[in-house]
Amino acid sequence: MRNLKRTGVALMTLALISSLNLNALAAVEDTGYADIDAGSWYADAVEYVRDNGLMSGTTATTFEPGGTTTRAMLAQILYREAGSPAVSGNDTFTDTQEGAWYADAVLWATQAGVISGYGDGRFGPNDPVSREQIAVILCRYAGSPAAQGEDFADEASISTWAADAVDWARSAGLMTGQEGNRFAPQASATRAETAVILRAFRTMNTPETPETPAEESNVLVAYFSATGNTERVANAIAEATGGDLFELTPAAPYTDADLDWTDESSRVVREYENPEERDVALTVDTPDNWADYDVVYLGYPIWWGIAAWPVNDFVASNDFTGKTVIPFCTSSSSGLGESGQLLADLAGTGTWLEGERFRSSVSQEDVTAWVESLGL
Ligand SMILES: Cc1cc2nc3c(=O)[nH]c(=O)nc-3n(C[C@H](O)[C@H](O)[C@H](O)COP(=O)(O)O)c2cc1C
Repeated sequence: MRNLKRTGVALMTLALISSLNLNALAAVEDTGYADIDAGSWYADAVEYVRDNGLMSGTTATTFEPGGTTTRAMLAQILYREAGSPAVSGNDTFTDTQEGAWYADAVLWATQAGVISGYGDGRFGPNDPVSREQIAVILCRYAGSPAAQGEDFADEASISTWAADAVDWARSAGLMTGQEGNRFAPQASATRAETAVILRAFRTMNTPETPETPAEESNVLVAYFSATGNTERVANAIAEATGGDLFELTPAAPYTDADLDWTDESSRVVREYENPEERDVALTVDTPDNWADYDVVYLGYPIWWGIAAWPVNDFVASNDFTGKTVIPFCTSSSSGLGESGQLLADLAGTGTWLEGERFRSSVSQEDVTAWVESLGL
């Protein structure tokens, strides 16, 4: 067992550098947020960014509307919006971490000229993004269109490098200012404000389509993701299939310390070494309308060569009769291995296909091509 652990060390190093919890960006489907008042000015926008996979809760039940948006988060949001294209190379910033959850997004954002560093070698991934920075970043992402805007009362405090972008953001209706015709350029954007701005930006770029009654999907994309990699692939599969997302959320969520496989007494190591402790209860075992799904994609990270065990509860609790199940996983380097077969054995019902392992930076294009190749 210790040999296995040693072998796993090299494979897992990369993954565990990125053990920052990406739940801040995780999609929360079909649940309300306890801290979002339905009557608030941002409630619709929060719902919009959640449903469109742009932002999600900080936990399964909270959004933290007053929390700050960091520069790395905004890079990640726009990277997703751009379809998470493949990137290569490393950034040259002194304060970004190789392999971090935001690494691909920061590299993409800088290479695409959407977000630049501070000029002193720093990117400031954890710095709150200011309102004028958001204007500049979205303006660049939109292709730096020229625009004229009316002046704000505090126009003089807008940085010169942001003035044109603020004009554009105002004229495009993205950022209309605060009380007293103030723009508050250096104030950090709260998560609620970011949601409102992103919705305005998205709907500006996406022509409104006439409302048609939503067709019920017969595809479910169920997944567990501890650090966001599998979630990214799940989102891409949902995008490709039009399927419904269902996140498997442990009732006792895994903290960074819980996931620290280098700590002999951490939760994952204890569970790994004692299979009887791998019975992880989920907040919800069965999605609504379970009977209506014919195709179930089931995603998980590989933990020590097998499916991360928080998926077991979902697999063991549901009847897969008549359903086609396609396992998929992300890992540092291991393949799918026997993970799908072991889950099929645990389920005992359903038609289980071979499945696929993805690298965490797989593009939407590649995921869509894989989905189409299944011919389901
Ligand atoms: C406890 C633990 C065990 C892991 N074991 C393996 C492994 O055996 N092989 C591997 O390639 N990656 C391993 N990894 C890396 C994860 O599979 C990889 O980072 C995955 O993409 C994480 O997915 P997530 O972000 O959806 O949680 C392990 C990670 C953790 C936390």
